[in-house]
Amino acid sequence: MQIIVSISELLVVVFVVIPHVNGSLGDLTSIVNGDPLKPIKDELDGLVFIDQRLSVVYPLIQNFKNIISSDPLNITGSWVGSDICNYTGFYCDNPPDNKTAITVASIDFNGFQLAAPSLNGFLDQLPDLALFHANSNFFSGTISPKIANLPYLYEFDISNNLFSGPFPNSILGMNSLSFLDIRFNSFTGSIPPQLFTKDLDILFVNNNNFIQRLADVLGNSHILYLTLANNKFYGPIPHSIAKYLSGLSEVLLLNNMLSGCLPYELGFLKETVVFDAGNNLLTGPIPFSLGCMKKAEVINFAGNLLRGVVPEVVCAINGLTNLSLSDNYFIQVGPICRGLMRKGVVDVRNNCIPGLPAQRPVEECVAFFAKPRYCSYLQTYHYLPCWLPGFSDSPMGLSEPAPSPI
Ligand SMILES: *[C@@H]1O[C@H](CO)[C@@H](O)[C@H](O)[C@H]1NC(C)=O
Ligand SMILES: *[C@@H]1O[C@H](CO)[C@@H](O)[C@H](O)[C@H]1NC(C)=O
Ligand SMILES: *[C@@H]1O[C@H](CO)[C@@H](O)[C@H](O)[C@H]1NC(C)=O
Ligand SMILES: *[C@@H]1O[C@H](CO)[C@@H](O)[C@H](O)[C@H]1NC(C)=O
Repeated sequence: MQIIVSISELLVVVFVVIPHVNGSLGDLTSIVNGDPLKPIKDELDGLVFIDQRLSVVYPLIQNFKNIISSDPLNITGSWVGSDICNYTGFYCDNPPDNKTAITVASIDFNGFQLAAPSLNGFLDQLPDLALFHANSNFFSGTISPKIANLPYLYEFDISNNLFSGPFPNSILGMNSLSFLDIRFNSFTGSIPPQLFTKDLDILFVNNNNFIQRLADVLGNSHILYLTLANNKFYGPIPHSIAKYLSGLSEVLLLNNMLSGCLPYELGFLKETVVFDAGNNLLTGPIPFSLGCMKKAEVINFAGNLLRGVVPEVVCAINGLTNLSLSDNYFIQVGPICRGLMRKGVVDVRNNCIPGLPAQRPVEECVAFFAKPRYCSYLQTYHYLPCWLPGFSDSPMGLSEPAPSPI
């Protein structure tokens, strides 16, 4: 009697479970593994979708929802039913290849604080996606090579998450990409130089663990904002910087391990408004050519090993609002710069300038200058590659040194 009951229970269990596996789960797997247009049948909770493309995306979203391990804002509470276009974070539009179809065209998870071990099987399976913004979540893992197959994706923002591993090379294969933001993750290794040959407008890679010679990062590009800050880029700022980056509006190199003397070619960064190389190991004098960065508003070299005079021609830049040179080894500052010091624009605290308050102890300065230090091309440090009234009469200024700033 006992045995018969057990067997019949077993039969019931087998009868219930097996059709389930062969039905909906089998179909979900085939959708995830390609064949994205395979028609969805009633197994999908009997839902009716306004477009076939949404019925394809539905199981992907539900699978992703199942691996979300933390959702403090109850975002996924709205991810139920067939009205995907009304799910929090999902936006629908007509895809470029069929103006009458409706599909998930963009995703904005910014600030949702969702945690998931991976985006793979979700993000890389949304073929019509144009924008993906997921700033400030707890997504982790690596980025699937399959994202290169998303033909319309042009804004990709996974900043402030927990992604790790090498730079996702699949990004190089994304032909539509113009905005890439992978700030504040834990990517390591080097950034492939091919990234700079892509048609990117915006590139943010700061606050990762990239370790690489700066010279090996730069290449031809039209990017406007270069933010390499808070990584471990090392080596000198290359002479080629202006050749590759002359259109740059913001150059953020702060908090790396850059060393060596400053190239006078920095003066060719004519469009640059913010140049920040604070907290590195840069040494040598400031080239007078920096006075040719006519659009500069913020220049930061604080926390380096720079020395010599603070060039008056740099302080004479018209729109300058903040020139930070504190924590270096400058020894001289002229009247134009002193005027800006009084206005709080120029900061030369903790240097070696005689007669000024808040300077380094004399012993520290003596110890620093006791070591011989040398920059090559020293004659270029006085060149002015532009015409600046009062500083040079020569339009190019290339063959004539500028007047001494003091
Ligand atoms: C989450 O949101 C859904 C839909 O708005 C709601 O039904 C559910 O009660 C919410 N859960 C919590 C824990 O607040
Ligand atoms: C979208 O969702 C909101 C609440 O989450 C609901 O009030 C509204 O009716 C929904 N819109 C449609 C078209 O279903
Ligand atoms: C365009 O999309 C609509 C709606 O999904 C569909 O009915 C139609 O067959 C599609 N047209 C083509 C050419 O695929
Ligand atoms: C100037 O820039 C430095 C370095 O970025 C910053 O620490 C400082 O607060 C700025 N000063 C002003 C007045 O904005």
